[in-house]
Amino acid sequence: MISAASPAAAVRLGADPVAVELSAAPDRSEAADRAAQQFTDSFGYEPDGVWSAPGRVNIIGEHVDYQDGLCLPMAISHRCFAAAARTPTDRLRVRSAQDETVLDIDARELTPEAVTGWPAYVAGVLWALRSRISGASTRGMDIMIDGQVPLGAGLSSSAALECAAAEAIEALLSLGTEPLDRVRAAITAETDFAGASTGGLDQSASVLSREGHALYLDCRDFSTRAVPWDLASQGLALLITDTRAEHSHVDGEYTARRADSERAAQALGVPTLRDADPVQLDALLARIDDEVVRRRAHHVITEIQRVREFDALLAAGTVREHVAELGALLNASHDSLREDYEVTVPQLDVAVEAARAAGAHGARMTGGGFGGSTIALVEAGQAEQVASAIAAAFAEQGFDAPVFFLALPSEGAGQDR
Ligand code: GLA
Repeated sequence: MISAASPAAAVRLGADPVAVELSAAPDRSEAADRAAQQFTDSFGYEPDGVWSAPGRVNIIGEHVDYQDGLCLPMAISHRCFAAAARTPTDRLRVRSAQDETVLDIDARELTPEAVTGWPAYVAGVLWALRSRISGASTRGMDIMIDGQVPLGAGLSSSAALECAAAEAIEALLSLGTEPLDRVRAAITAETDFAGASTGGLDQSASVLSREGHALYLDCRDFSTRAVPWDLASQGLALLITDTRAEHSHVDGEYTARRADSERAAQALGVPTLRDADPVQLDALLARIDDEVVRRRAHHVITEIQRVREFDALLAAGTVREHVAELGALLNASHDSLREDYEVTVPQLDVAVEAARAAGAHGARMTGGGFGGSTIALVEAGQAEQVASAIAAAFAEQGFDAPVFFLALPSEGAGQDR
């Protein structure tokens, strides 16, 4: 299935070797209304408001955020909604339209051990903001979560959940946080409360992205700049393929890559790989004895450089004007993640190869890897054909059928009603 953000009618392409479906993502204001209704149905009264935050794809700059690197993500149109109300108690009650798990806990007694599963991504944000809440005030609230970001697809459903919760909590408790404070609270919720070690890319993209733009993100200080990324007006599209090979960060591989990159920085005598000079790279890398660690460093240092080049191309002209060079950088990023960083799986590699063979300008895995999604920069008129070719390749390999979306650069977290 291809989901576009614009309300287009469902189309089935029967003539293709493998038919793919194009359907509309839920309309944002209708989805917000639905979340409000679910709140009312569940808690028996009306919410004070509805807040939401989007999932993301990373266009380029992968596995560099935790080495102070540069990334270029964008928010997608799939969002997580939080309908919420403040209560005159200290109970935090959290429910979801997608899952029967219910959290009902004294909000003053939140500890990482006390909350498990997806509610930890909500409770963790309140916990991360605890020092901002004055002692006398109550912190009770009811929250209904309605998440649309596909789960396990590498599109940051958990960051969307945290960031939607952060918006709601800020509004309900008037904590005076800036967007970057909410990014940091969401990161803390994920790393220190939910126990998933991630680097900040996802939360930054979810909160700070602007519609029609990619987000140039410097993970050294989390400073950002909106970069025009209006593909539609240039006859281009970004096709997301959810390979359905489920990924998880809580497993050891992500942590192991982080550790490798830290070892690399240590061997080079720099605080982070961002500080390694990409000029005369071979001579530099020769200082790392361990062959695997050397390849990890090669990926991180070259990937940061690719983001610089990608950004420079976008500053020098439109995506259309530089589509071949931009596509080549996407391809190089994937190849580096496959060869040097070893975070791809067969489904990711097959989706990327099939997209390239079907005429994509460039294609790569996006997100943490070990499953999840790929992106392909394609001519808008060829998106269905490329999707169909990927679906055919998956069928041939005996993989589960992939799911397709068209990624429109969307607005970051905010209030819906
Ligand atoms: C996951 C993490 C991010 C980032 C990416 C890889 O999505 O959550 O922090 O490290 O992997 O770029």
